[in-house]
Amino acid sequence: MTEQGVRLQDRRIALGITGSIAAYKAVDLLRLLQAEGADVRVLMTASATEFIGTLTLETLSRHPVDSDVLALQADGRIGHISTAHDVEAIVVAPATAHWLGAMANGLASDSITAACLATSVPVIVAPAMDGGMYAHPATQANVARLREFGYHLVEPEFGPLASGMVGQGRLASLDRIVDATVRALGGAPAAVAGAPTGAVSQSGAPGNSASAGSSRTDLAGRHVVVTAGGTAEPIDPVRFVGNRSSGKMGIAIAEEALDRGAAVTLILGNHTVEPPAGAHVAHAETAAEMEAALRALTPPSGPRFDVLVMTAAVADFRPHSPSAKKVSRSSGMTLEMVATPDLLAATAERVRTSIGASGARRPVLVGFAAETGSLERAEEKLRSKGVDLLVANDVTEPGSGFGTDTNKVTIYSSDGSSEELPLMAKREVAEFLLDRVAVRLAAIVGESAALAETN
Ligand SMILES: Cc1cc2nc3c(=O)[nH]c(=O)nc-3n(C[C@H](O)[C@H](O)[C@H](O)COP(=O)(O)O)c2cc1C
Repeated sequence: MTEQGVRLQDRRIALGITGSIAAYKAVDLLRLLQAEGADVRVLMTASATEFIGTLTLETLSRHPVDSDVLALQADGRIGHISTAHDVEAIVVAPATAHWLGAMANGLASDSITAACLATSVPVIVAPAMDGGMYAHPATQANVARLREFGYHLVEPEFGPLASGMVGQGRLASLDRIVDATVRALGGAPAAVAGAPTGAVSQSGAPGNSASAGSSRTDLAGRHVVVTAGGTAEPIDPVRFVGNRSSGKMGIAIAEEALDRGAAVTLILGNHTVEPPAGAHVAHAETAAEMEAALRALTPPSGPRFDVLVMTAAVADFRPHSPSAKKVSRSSGMTLEMVATPDLLAATAERVRTSIGASGARRPVLVGFAAETGSLERAEEKLRSKGVDLLVANDVTEPGSGFGTDTNKVTIYSSDGSSEELPLMAKREVAEFLLDRVAVRLAAIVGESAALAETN
């Protein structure tokens, strides 16, 4: 994983994406490079555009994507030549077997090989493919040739592959690719407290610092997942059982995390405010969809995030048998409800199991509990759900809870402490909370570094 701080501040980097099934991971890689302060422009092979759309990459990078070696830029310049001269490093991830072969032989039939041939800046290459393809002598010879060019190879990892088989071919972890890029550029500029975070969305005013000494970049290089909004459990195709959640609290946390340099995934149910432009948004309407999104982020190989904050108001019950057709008034309606799974407890459990099996670093888990009348159940919830922090509020208090721009919360911690905060703007609550999260994360990173040294 990356160290804390911004290590690629204002560095101009080209990200080359080729036609591998791992191309979807390049979107997160782009966000991580940006979170390190880099200005990233994207080059793609024609095959890569079959795997992921240029619109996503143009939106996130804020540059046109160069996916046609024969197309001129709007100003008449030749794309790959101007890239070759403008950038300070080219990162090719994922790199296909085909691309390695083309590059090893100097065949400039796509924008990435053409730019690499025309440049003298460091080139970082992260191959991804089936294990057999990677082991083939032709591929190995091409990899060796690229090393002779002085390229920085980030070896693929051993593990389950898209084919269903197991082998060495999985794209290296994105942290390893970012680290290799930092190294290829000769190390890191020192992290600047309070510095802006490059191309990462800067949504909203940060407000007063919630605690003295909190750095504005203390989540740089981290992946923060936030669930927000309310679920809607279908009764029939037009009606649902829902709740009053606006999504404001979770969205404020997503904005704050982006401002601190994190890559943010927002798993979003029904909401009344716009999510921040810089977040990756996964829409999840029902408890089941939210569960599926969380499952995808907590595979047996370990959680794919550093921080999970679950603010979403997930239905505790759903209609047992939603009707496929609109129920007419004349037929009347009696709803039989069934309990939905407890997503917070289940996700925390899945995280524990996966880190136990994989040795992955544990993330910081934060739950939210909306109570009515008193917070006396909160400490028990913290323990039973197995989270690091539980943020509880009494939604019946004025200015606190659903739909409001303010909140009055108490933060319970697994170390036994609790902090009762005054009524404040949701964005300020987010700032306070992420201060506490950043401290926990730094402790966890320190623990794993110490463990790695002793092993
Ligand atoms: C679904 C699918 C997944 C693929 N994944 C990979 C892959 O991970 N690595 C690889 O080397 N080739 C992969 N291929 C084959 C490449 O897409 C193919 O060789 C293509 O010509 C590569 O073009 P490019 O190197 O110009 O991007 C895949 C093909 C398909 C249909």
